[in-house]
Amino acid sequence: MRPLKYKDGVLSLIDQTKLPNEQIWVDCKNYQEVADAIVNMIVRGAPAIGVTAAYGVAIGALSIGTDSKNEFFSELREVCDVMRNTRPTAVNLFWAIDKMYNIAESMKEKSIPEIKDALVKHAFILDEEDVNTNKAIGQNGNELIQDNWTILTHCNAGALATCDYGTALGVIRMAKESGKNIQVFADETRPYLQGARLTAWELQQDNIPVTLICDNMSGHFMKAGNINCVIVGADRIALNGDTANKIGTYSVAVLAKENNIPFYVAAPVSTIDFSIQSGEQIPIEERKAEEVTHIKGIRLAPESICVRNPSFDVTPNKYITAIITEKGVVYPPFEENIKKLK
Ligand code: MRU
Repeated sequence: MRPLKYKDGVLSLIDQTKLPNEQIWVDCKNYQEVADAIVNMIVRGAPAIGVTAAYGVAIGALSIGTDSKNEFFSELREVCDVMRNTRPTAVNLFWAIDKMYNIAESMKEKSIPEIKDALVKHAFILDEEDVNTNKAIGQNGNELIQDNWTILTHCNAGALATCDYGTALGVIRMAKESGKNIQVFADETRPYLQGARLTAWELQQDNIPVTLICDNMSGHFMKAGNINCVIVGADRIALNGDTANKIGTYSVAVLAKENNIPFYVAAPVSTIDFSIQSGEQIPIEERKAEEVTHIKGIRLAPESICVRNPSFDVTPNKYITAIITEKGVVYPPFEENIKKLK
């Protein structure tokens, strides 16, 4: 299940705002349309927006019509800036844009058509690498999962949030593929309902048994002994292991610790921000009030009510049992062990 496809200068994205009721593909024919798709969450999830932005940079580069190298690079920087200003929290976005720009810069002596060609090829490479990375995360994570376990997840860290297979859901898929009898509990994940709309749908498509619960029910099921471990994705991991992920993840982690349930973060190394020491340095996106006051255009709250809508929270490292990456499973002390992944 791939949420994105590139062909001949056009990036097609499955519109994740419409799932699961409608499966509509949106064609982005220029880089501004790609940027808008990220802002409006037609595509979402840290690895998916990284690769989408990479295709956006490639599409932007293709549209630059100049023979002057100086002009080309100045316009390419503008394209990169537009991509950078879409969403602030997931570091994969900045990682992918920097990779693309560095490729172009390393080819400064080559012709503009050669640089454009290389950018398109590199976006493809990032796309392909993401799928292989997720399978490796799945394999490493599967070692931690026992037969007959029920796994709780929050938000959607599945195929839809990546280029395919998923990170947290990649571990679940791999456990299932290796013959384990696995059940999933999916938090609905207010306000945007990525759990109810995307994780529930995605797992159903793969015939993985999934039970949908409201966000405020997870403590109840943990205490009742219904959950064996929690696996979530990540948007940005600091050097000390503090992890930004979808709002509500922190509460789930605290409840898991209280109930002696292992809490795992599954993420590629590209989600680690090696430039920041702790989660305090992670910028948290605040989204519009309508996501909280309305569902599908229907107002639930009184007019002009004061609303806060942080899209992510930071789970302090002390609540995280281990971080599952493509390079292996990282345990505390995270301050020492995360550095080794660089
Ligand atoms: O706002 P979203 O839907 O982009 O948030 C997504 C998440 O928080 C995911 O858990 C995270 O990006 C990891 S996806 C593999």
